[in-house]
Amino acid sequence: MCGIVGYTGPQSAVTPLIEGLRRLEYRGYDSAGIALGTPNTLFVEKRAGKLANLEEALGSASPEVHSGIGHTRWATHGGPTDRNAHPHLDNEGKLAVIHNGIIENYSQLKVELESKGHTFESDTDTESVAHLLSDLRKKHHGDLSAAMREAVQSLRGSFTLLAVHADDPETIVGVRRNSPLVVGLGVGENFMASDVAAFIQYTKRAVELGQDEVVTITPSSISITDLYGAEVAPREYEITWDAAAAQKGGFTHFMLKEIFEQPKAVADTLIGRLSDNNQILLDELHMNPDEIRALKKIVVIACGTAYHAGMIAKYAIEKWAKISVEVEIASEYRYRDPIVDSSTLVIAISQSGETMDTLMALRHAKASGARVLAVCNTNSSTIPRESDAVLYTHAGPEIAVASTKALLTQIIAVYLIGMHLAQVRGELSDQEVAHLYSQALELPGKIESILETVEPIRELTRKFAKSETVLFLGRNIGYPVALEGALKLKELAYMHAEGFAGGELKHGPIALIDSEIGTPVIAILPAGHEHGLDEKMLSNIQEVKARGARVIVIAEEGAMVVGAEHVIRIPIAPPIFQPILATVPLQVFAYEMAVARGNDVDQPRNLAKSVTVE
Ligand code: AGP
Repeated sequence: MCGIVGYTGPQSAVTPLIEGLRRLEYRGYDSAGIALGTPNTLFVEKRAGKLANLEEALGSASPEVHSGIGHTRWATHGGPTDRNAHPHLDNEGKLAVIHNGIIENYSQLKVELESKGHTFESDTDTESVAHLLSDLRKKHHGDLSAAMREAVQSLRGSFTLLAVHADDPETIVGVRRNSPLVVGLGVGENFMASDVAAFIQYTKRAVELGQDEVVTITPSSISITDLYGAEVAPREYEITWDAAAAQKGGFTHFMLKEIFEQPKAVADTLIGRLSDNNQILLDELHMNPDEIRALKKIVVIACGTAYHAGMIAKYAIEKWAKISVEVEIASEYRYRDPIVDSSTLVIAISQSGETMDTLMALRHAKASGARVLAVCNTNSSTIPRESDAVLYTHAGPEIAVASTKALLTQIIAVYLIGMHLAQVRGELSDQEVAHLYSQALELPGKIESILETVEPIRELTRKFAKSETVLFLGRNIGYPVALEGALKLKELAYMHAEGFAGGELKHGPIALIDSEIGTPVIAILPAGHEHGLDEKMLSNIQEVKARGARVIVIAEEGAMVVGAEHVIRIPIAPPIFQPILATVPLQVFAYEMAVARGNDVDQPRNLAKSVTVE
């Protein structure tokens, strides 16, 4: 929920720190600050609002020093003000701390520290750590790493912490628990950050950190220990994407770029997944045929858009593999007594791989004996690292807070899982699998054709830009699409939007249709010809139209549509694959609505890209 960056090396630290924060602003953007390692006393500047406010405050006045830490915030404790912005300092102004996460026992710590004479400036949980570290550093004769090791033993909650002290400004100490932190290894310089995007322009060599590991960097060294001082060997890996991929590439917004990257993202996720003898290749599942045949249930856990991918997984896996699939909202899952055991496969879907709700649900499932497969878009993030296996989607970095290409690749991933399980369990023949795979390979081209005709959606947006409510209707596999369309409109246009199963409308929600204002209703028509559902959806359209709704229909080319004010045509595809296509116009609609309403498309208010608190 916050962006964290640290630098030590020959550069003027303000540059890599500010550049890093710019790349991390999607993680939280209600205030930002830096502490620079000037000898004897730190130089600290911090401002409420976006990074630009901090840059304006810094001007050209920042001192020419070579180490420091930086933070961009999504507020949890204490409002988004200058005073509550990170870094937070000890009373001598010589030790600075930045933090991502929540220190659950901060108020108890604060009472103890105040009783020792510490005075607090802010309303945050983080400041307690600054004063605690200050005391412990004195106890450990100036050893900030030892102070951090001891401090963490008295902290409860989830956190990433970075600290720097003016007496040894080129040394930066970090630690993580349930919250992301990665080290970047440069030549004569080293970095720490919440996400490799912060330093990828300087180095592609990264080191992942495990739970409760304390890392200390200087320009020429890195050392990692556990909380008791035992050395941990650095686990280095190569970052697989480049800095350009994390730039806008000429688009006005990351979200628009990522919408247009969807054909390639889907193609990249599909590539090489069918062998010459028509076998789906998913070796990364690490499950042998007997284990797959012994599966009795699948539970999908996820949040938000990823949850909608999970709903689509249910349709595909039950249809093809004949295994019961339950789809669970991750934040609810672990507070029940779910029935899971070794015959259950839990699939945790997460773009960032750091969503705390999903991580905690994953741990709950593992503790109950289930095998966990992660479907994730971020290499070496926490959720894949804590799973038994991981199927990486190949969407590339997704910077916009509103998830688009990650969703389509998550759906492709669960299609592949469904085909593989079905093939191994003998529910689908090799020929049937090959046919499904060939149909999936046509999807990138079909997405392209939708993206070539988005202009009518822009026209449509101008008509409805002032609406305050939009309803979405879907049936069968179109129902998750309706939910996703509503979520996109909520998080981008800040409008009340709600998705319904078409058949549910008459059981209450139809009362929402206001003939006075002509409530806009978007109906996703493709829902499975085999069940005659198109006819039922056409009836739903008539029901809402008769009550004064203004109806927009997403329909396949050639499909009969009656009663719509607007029809957005999409290519024909097998019903099970339709969500891949029907979702795209809804993404564009939400994007254009946000632009029309002057909203911050890539960083919508109150949101963050990766929700790393529960
Ligand atoms: C989607 O547009 C939202 N940004 C949000 O619902 C997101 O999908 C959810 O927070 C899950 O994130 P994850 O995929 O990184 O776990």
